[in-house]
Amino acid sequence: MKILVTGGLGYIGSHTVVELQAAGFEVVIVDNLSNTHIEVLDKIEKISGIRPSFFEFDLADRTACSNFFKKENNIDGIIHFAAYKAVGESVEKPLMYYHNNIGSLINIMENMEQYAIQNIVFSSSCTVYGQPDKLPVDEKAPRKPALSPYGNTKQIAEDIIRDTVYSSAIKSIALRYFNPVGAHHTSLIGELPLGIPNNLLPFITQTAAGIRKQLNVFGDDYNTPDGTPIRDYIHVVDLAKAHVVAVKRMIDNKTKLNFETFNIGTGNGYSVLEVIKSFEKVSKIKLNYKIVGRREGDVEQVWADTSFANNELGWKAERSLDEMTLSAWNFQKQLDKN
Ligand code: UD1
Repeated sequence: MKILVTGGLGYIGSHTVVELQAAGFEVVIVDNLSNTHIEVLDKIEKISGIRPSFFEFDLADRTACSNFFKKENNIDGIIHFAAYKAVGESVEKPLMYYHNNIGSLINIMENMEQYAIQNIVFSSSCTVYGQPDKLPVDEKAPRKPALSPYGNTKQIAEDIIRDTVYSSAIKSIALRYFNPVGAHHTSLIGELPLGIPNNLLPFITQTAAGIRKQLNVFGDDYNTPDGTPIRDYIHVVDLAKAHVVAVKRMIDNKTKLNFETFNIGTGNGYSVLEVIKSFEKVSKIKLNYKIVGRREGDVEQVWADTSFANNELGWKAERSLDEMTLSAWNFQKQLDKN
């Protein structure tokens, strides 16, 4: 079985490629290297012993995309990660986000129709829920108006997929990720943002490594037990495994609807200060951090009701917060060594 992984050299993509290979799938990667390095391909090979085929081009380029599918259309399923994901940048450059995140999806789905490729797993996000009225949030919760163009691209993409599967033979599963963190146990792959990190875990590990002077904690006046926002952090390897389960579900014709959505989280919420405490415990490093003002657009608290994913997909996150922070730290140390 051959799976196309778009954005397969990125953070979540690379971990998913490794899990797909371990499950016996042949993997083809398309990535334009806009937010990663080609060396990740070597790292994947080092972990699995298998070098996936790799094509470097931009999926939002309609001609390049159709040229690719002309040659590579014996594909059993697609996992579509390739997208921009920085919330702040999306506010500055909305058209760049709509062009890339929406354009690439349309190009891929047009080719799926043309070449009768039936299965696509889409990278969605808990951002579609905004601040939910009820916690933990389940898949039936209403989507809230997006707080950023990035968030809006995830909602629009879900709508495009839902409308397309209605009138074609395509089936899709959208996985709504909560907060993916951590790294592979080999420390060969992990989260490596280019430039100054936006997300919490890479900012923590870079601060501990001396690359950043201080971590700013964005607000401690939220309506939560310690005043800092709460998120459902999930180990990237658990998240990667959810993709393998989703792809198998489609290939084995086990889907109950042509478009299904699942929450992919642990079901546990942790505050920013709890994440810092976990990091300090596993790394034995005192982190230099300071409470500053709130970051615009941050929701107060969100964590997943994972019962639908657990029962229907038969998947469950297994790794603890300490395993997440420790693996992120081991990856950072490995980077610094090289
Ligand atoms: C958000 C989206 C998520 C999206 C991700 C992309 C929500 C609920 N989540 O994640 O769907 O995929 O952006 O980047 O909309 N923090 C600090 N200091 C920092 C960095 C972060 O205090 O330097 C805090 C934030 O205020 C937040 C928590 O850490 O409370 C996690 O932040 P981050 O890692 O950026 O992820 P989200 O904003 O939750």
